[in-house]
Amino acid sequence: MQLAQRLKAIKPSPTLALNARAKALASQGVDVAGFVAGEPDFDTPEFIKQAAIDALRAGFTKYTPTAGIIELREAICAKLQKDNQLTYAPDQVLVSTGAKHSLYNIFQALLNEGDEVIILAPYWVSYPDMVMLAGGKPVFVETREENGFAPEPEAIRRALTPRTKALVLNSPSNPSGAVFSREALEGIASAVRGHDCLIISDDIYEKLLFEGQFANIGNVAPELVPRLVVVNGMSKAYSMTGWRLGYAAGPKALIAGMQMIQDQSTSNASSIGQKAALAALKGPPDAVTAMVEEFRVRRELIVSGLNALDGVSCRKPEGAFYVFPNVKGVLGRTYKGAPVGTSTRLSEILLDDFRVAVMPGAPFGAEGYLRMSFATSREVIQKGLARLRDFVAALS
Ligand SMILES: Cc1ncc(COP(=O)(O)O)c(C=O)c1O
Repeated sequence: MQLAQRLKAIKPSPTLALNARAKALASQGVDVAGFVAGEPDFDTPEFIKQAAIDALRAGFTKYTPTAGIIELREAICAKLQKDNQLTYAPDQVLVSTGAKHSLYNIFQALLNEGDEVIILAPYWVSYPDMVMLAGGKPVFVETREENGFAPEPEAIRRALTPRTKALVLNSPSNPSGAVFSREALEGIASAVRGHDCLIISDDIYEKLLFEGQFANIGNVAPELVPRLVVVNGMSKAYSMTGWRLGYAAGPKALIAGMQMIQDQSTSNASSIGQKAALAALKGPPDAVTAMVEEFRVRRELIVSGLNALDGVSCRKPEGAFYVFPNVKGVLGRTYKGAPVGTSTRLSEILLDDFRVAVMPGAPFGAEGYLRMSFATSREVIQKGLARLRDFVAALS
């Protein structure tokens, strides 16, 4: 069978693939210290589960409007107003099957063949492939660790062309955990002010913040709001990754276009999930607060442990649940008679010989780094760090 050409443009998600390999080893009884999970290791709060159970019992099991039930879209508007000081009406909101689906809809609704999308590196692995699936061309702008992974406005200006259709922002960031300051956002705003492109703000890690206050680019540059689309969802803040509930809020015409794509693909997000999301947005923030406090403790543990390793340096992430250690000092060294060489080779050695699962930086657009999720217990973090010490001791 001859499959579609478009498949040639994309590759399987490396994070999902490595996670699957680590899980397969674990299911064979191998004791793997896993740092690849892209989801909180907490259960969905009880009151959210109860809302879903109530919805089921009440027979709320049928199609809903494609865009989502009106109560949920109103609650999303209220959330965006209260938390983000952004004003949206329910007809500017589309509820989808996860924030990933929201992003997919955006690119499908926006891009023509060859249109360019600026993506800041390091980036979440799915952005480039989603752009390419829609016929677009990802254009990468590198950011530097010394600048807290904030882009230099001049680098964005240089990347803008007449074909630039969008710029993707993700703060707190997967993979770096970096959070853009207001100054960094002002810099980005100044770079795109004269260029009519869409700004996609992926705020999925908004609630997982250890320092400072969250700001969206729309807060520092209100004049950009008419061409801003905010993407967010339930997965990370409410430990609801499996529920698949996300949303986008933005210009009416874009949302209407995205809805047309969704009408002809998935229709509405799960009816029960929507009721659960409604409860999450209206409920108390206690569970999120407790989760952030636990992540804060683990962040200290993992950052100090990594910085104690010869050849590794790790900046403290301000948000999300990832550290992004710089391992350039290790790549030049020799393991079992051969140079380690690349972050991909390093993660293979760590999984095969030391039973530590980490993501290489390369698929995130940052060779010389690893991504490690600390959405795992303190015990696993301690165990993993001990194994990393063994690895470093084995280098020459
Ligand atoms: C940066 C970023 N955006 C979006 C998503 C998608 O989240 P979901 O589809 O679970 O809402 C993820 C998930 O890992 C992510 O890391």
